[in-house]
Amino acid sequence: MLVNATQMLQSAEKGHYGIGAFNTNNLEWADAIITAAQEKQSPLIIQCTSGAMKWQVSFKIVSEIVHQLVEEKNVTVPVALHLDHGSYEACFACIEAGFTSIMYDGSHEENFQTNLDHTAELVKLAHSKGLSIEAEVGGIGGTEDGVTAQGELADPGQCRQIADLGVDFLACGIGNIHGLYPANWVGLNFDRLAAIKAKTGDLPLVLHGGTGIPADQVKKAIANGVSKINVNTDLQVVFAEATAKYVKEHPGFENKAYDPRKLLKPGREAIVARTEELMDEFGSTGKGWD
Ligand code: 13P
Repeated sequence: MLVNATQMLQSAEKGHYGIGAFNTNNLEWADAIITAAQEKQSPLIIQCTSGAMKWQVSFKIVSEIVHQLVEEKNVTVPVALHLDHGSYEACFACIEAGFTSIMYDGSHEENFQTNLDHTAELVKLAHSKGLSIEAEVGGIGGTEDGVTAQGELADPGQCRQIADLGVDFLACGIGNIHGLYPANWVGLNFDRLAAIKAKTGDLPLVLHGGTGIPADQVKKAIANGVSKINVNTDLQVVFAEATAKYVKEHPGFENKAYDPRKLLKPGREAIVARTEELMDEFGSTGKGWD
């Protein structure tokens, strides 16, 4: 059975460990991530963007895949199915499709008031259906010569305003960036994290752009109030590398090396291994129903 992500993230916040939120793209991806969580006895947030949903046809299909995997594989750790960076409309679609958690990303709305209004409405709706909800406060990033050296830094006062709406966890920029980090990236801004934490108390905070942040910085962020770490690109890279290696090693696709089950196996195994490694790094290994 799937759960919402509230309880697991509150436990993580109190216990100073992090829970990985890993993006899924298809059946193999979801199966690999769920397998890692079960093997590590770690709570899990498996999440999907609207783009990855389109690839899989519908949120309903994504939801069925995850629900069925958890049931058929007798998964014993808590698993939440979460919408990643949802629009206002996508939130409604995911509630309908059986997700147990949503993110409304109003950070790109034309003004902060719209973000506040939509978040307030969706908090009520999500909670009335037993779902957890994440919101996001945007901010100023730094770009020079087309290269972003510093990700967004959320305004602590705005974080407080969104927190007061009753969201269950909050994404707030502390210099993090989605995708691979540029060579001149200045690192996470721990002063900003402390300022946000001072305004938001024990509300679990979310670190987006989990790929490529040095482990010591991730651990410091977790120790200082980050409870959910989003990871997407990292698993795509290990999948691509393992698949490329397989193709290189089987140039003529001899011995039915073209069989999709053979072709996708190394990538699937790479996702399991990397997810397990990250669970150890975030400290969620063995935390199960903590
Ligand atoms: P990365 O792709 O940088 O890991 O970011 C993932 C993320 O933040 C999803 O919301």
